[in-house]
Amino acid sequence: MISALMSNYGNPDLEFERGQGTWLYTPAGERYLDFTTGIAVNCLGHCHPHLVQALQEQATRIWHSSNLFRIPQTERLAQRLVDNTFADRVFFSNSGTEAVEAGFKMMRRYHYSRGESQRVRIISLSSSFHGRTLAPIAACKNPVHIEGFLTGDPGFDQVPFGDIDALRAAITPETAGVILEPIQGEGGIRLTPFDYLSQVRELCDEQGILLMYDEVQSGVGRSGYLYAYMASGVVPDLLASAKGLGGGFPIGACLSSERVAAPMVAGTHGSTFGGNPLATAVGNAVLDVILAPGFLAEAMAGAAQLRAGLAELINEYPGVISEQTGLGYMIGLKCSISNADFIYALKDEHMLVVKAGGNSVRLLPPLNVTAEEIAHALAIVRTACARLATAR
Ligand SMILES: Cc1ncc(COP(=O)(O)O)c(C=O)c1O
Repeated sequence: MISALMSNYGNPDLEFERGQGTWLYTPAGERYLDFTTGIAVNCLGHCHPHLVQALQEQATRIWHSSNLFRIPQTERLAQRLVDNTFADRVFFSNSGTEAVEAGFKMMRRYHYSRGESQRVRIISLSSSFHGRTLAPIAACKNPVHIEGFLTGDPGFDQVPFGDIDALRAAITPETAGVILEPIQGEGGIRLTPFDYLSQVRELCDEQGILLMYDEVQSGVGRSGYLYAYMASGVVPDLLASAKGLGGGFPIGACLSSERVAAPMVAGTHGSTFGGNPLATAVGNAVLDVILAPGFLAEAMAGAAQLRAGLAELINEYPGVISEQTGLGYMIGLKCSISNADFIYALKDEHMLVVKAGGNSVRLLPPLNVTAEEIAHALAIVRTACARLATAR
């Protein structure tokens, strides 16, 4: 049957009618182990009772009012993000790309407010991914994403990942700031070296430009830290968050230092749905769980179990998988065979993972995946590796 949906997502074959924890169920009742979590979204698995309760309770009170009015749970979520990060202020959006867009606008507005309105250009790193609206695709310069969509010079420059000299050389009197992912996601789970982050921070300070992190994928506990930058201790001026922040309910946030937020006076930016009461009620519920003492430590013990098992499999089947990357539960597996073949082999065994750049796959389990589920996942990866190794 031809779907009325646009074809931009291809033709997915699987359909799920419900999810519970780490499992997804098809209408026929078959279950799949979900290590995609909606691409790093369902950070607490499907239908976590605390999140369901928060959403149901909020749904009986008020769904939407508008930013014309105060929204207490939105103010509370902003305050909790401020209390637990570098940030002083938060702007809420509905998605990751909008959080990035907000950050780009804020970078420009910051310099404008200081009389440096020529500082509009933003530098990104190669293989980065920052979203699909016009400014993020212009920033990332991925030929597949920009073809037929851009006109003129939208004001973005790009330098090779991890090359500090190239970054220094790219900064001009028109540069407003730099955006990077502390752990690249779509590009192939790639940890940005901590010493490079420090050098970028120093360079930005020296040049009077801003540093923005995109933690849309790496944020909200996935790395073992609330935000992955905390592993390095190198603090940004701006940070885009989304995905896991709503645990499956759409939300985005642009976190900012006071000096960068100050020029964003009334009327400078906005969103009808950004900071919607349903979204922030769920966002608060997510933080209740993630910030509970011991939660992330326990999650990272699970990540260590998974990573140790994967390391063994890499040793046993180097002709199928050759390396694991990332941090915490943001796991990349570089494939020696085609990553698509590896994904299909896992799918045949009812385990779901996501493709990433560099011929790798992403394993993005919920942060509360159980030890038994990890053991089950490792058994599936072993079966798939054994099958693919003999097929070669
Ligand atoms: C690092 C990063 N930034 C931005 C985005 C865009 O987020 P959204 O799809 O919610 O607009 C993504 C989505 O995958 C992402 O991984």
